[in-house]
Amino acid sequence: MSDLASHSLDKTIELFSEVEIERVREYWNSRPCNIRHSQKEIGTKEYFDEVEARKYFVEPHIPLFAQFEKWRGKRVLEIGCGIGTDTINFARAGALVTAVDVSDESLRIAKKRAEVFGLTDRITFYRANAETLSNTIPVFEYDLIYSFGVIHHTPHPENVIEQIKQYYAGSQTIIKIMVYNKISYKVFWLLLTEAKGKFWKLNNTIAQYSEAQTGCPVTYVYTKRTVQNLLRDFKINEIFVDHIFPYKISDYINYHYVKVWYFRILPKKLFRLLEKKFGWHLCATITMKNKEN
Ligand SMILES: C[S@@+](CC[C@H](N)C(=O)[O-])C[C@H]1O[C@@H](n2cnc3c(N)ncnc32)[C@H](O)[C@@H]1O
Repeated sequence: MSDLASHSLDKTIELFSEVEIERVREYWNSRPCNIRHSQKEIGTKEYFDEVEARKYFVEPHIPLFAQFEKWRGKRVLEIGCGIGTDTINFARAGALVTAVDVSDESLRIAKKRAEVFGLTDRITFYRANAETLSNTIPVFEYDLIYSFGVIHHTPHPENVIEQIKQYYAGSQTIIKIMVYNKISYKVFWLLLTEAKGKFWKLNNTIAQYSEAQTGCPVTYVYTKRTVQNLLRDFKINEIFVDHIFPYKISDYINYHYVKVWYFRILPKKLFRLLEKKFGWHLCATITMKNKEN
């Protein structure tokens, strides 16, 4: 890609570069991701079991993407662990996990989760800003660097990518990241419903409504092309799109899974095709480029 093309792509992803990391922390402290996936008492085994069941029921592509079992006996660095659903599954499968998040509240719950499941010896938690990871996390070579739904929520995603390079052990390190997909059903739906067709307001509307709690201070969205630009120093082994949320929100928040009418009548196969084309999650598995590449 020419420098000019790469510069103009980068311009599209500088939207939230002025946001302070404190605002990001405050937002995720006020409502850690998936915290309302269960109504049971937070911190109990029942609570964590329900959170996990709901998460992987609604997002079944996550275990397939993470391949928890593959990392038995391996070192995993998870960037942006949230309340630790994937973290616990890596540890349960036998990985040694370093889990990082900028949100104290998310970490508090994730740590409790590790205690409840007797996995504290397999997980080391750190409160750190992924953009300056090496200020906090000892530089060590990992087998897997995993970051699901995180990099698009930080003001300078490119800094996280630079940091990742330090934890890289060469071609044996696999990196798996998920960022939000711009060419998606969700963005189309937000454009119609919340932005009322005003596409020039779309970026802020996306951030406003990307999460369960409105007002996320930073949410970038990527196309396959802009994500390739973000990851330009890496070799992309696999990149795919998945996940359309088909349920009525009013029922979902009351723990009922009722699909909206048009997804009810859509044949399953067609729905899957739609998800693979216009899903909200853009998932990439990458490795470091060989020097000669
Ligand atoms: C959408 S949640 C995803 C959490 C978890 N990966 C999951 O899938 O459940 C985004 C997480 O990224 C964290 N995060 C955002 N920016 C970060 C940064 N610069 N450094 C570390 N964590 C960050 C937030 O605190 C939040 O827990």
